[in-house]
Amino acid sequence: MLTQAKRPAPPTDDKRWRIVDATMRRQSYRPAALIETLHTAQEVFGFLDDDTLRYVAGSLGLPLGKVFGVATFYHHFQLKPKGAHSCVVCLGTACYMKNATGIVKMIGEEAGIAPGETTPDGKLSLMVARCIGACSLAPGVVADGEVLPRPTLDDVRALVKRWLSE
Ligand code: FES
Repeated sequence: MLTQAKRPAPPTDDKRWRIVDATMRRQSYRPAALIETLHTAQEVFGFLDDDTLRYVAGSLGLPLGKVFGVATFYHHFQLKPKGAHSCVVCLGTACYMKNATGIVKMIGEEAGIAPGETTPDGKLSLMVARCIGACSLAPGVVADGEVLPRPTLDDVRALVKRWLSE
């Protein structure tokens, strides 16, 4: 287990790293936290990129090869967003209260996809998460990596329509 001083800093100042950190901290940064940490990272970011895998490896004191191995072995993990655009909708309690399920339903209708799917033309991937750490901006919608501030259903609809018509 690495001491705090030896653990790397998160790759960016994105608040979602705090959620990933919380998962690792709960398990005292033990290497056994790997799979759960990757799940959390995928849930909040939608996929696992290089920086994420490096950060998790560094934080848990694991060889990068092992982390890549696990991330590529399990089909559940995605190493890239599949669609040209990605939308993660938070279904945690605060967001649920602000009609997050209505947003997921609307995107499903507009794009013809369910959460976890990408449109056949590769334009949009839709994902859902439990809490992305932005409850004050609920409903939490992360559009191409940016947390939208309190988006309405129509805001998200306009964005999705624009993406699909590009
Ligand atoms: S419940 Fe959605 S951001 Fe926290």
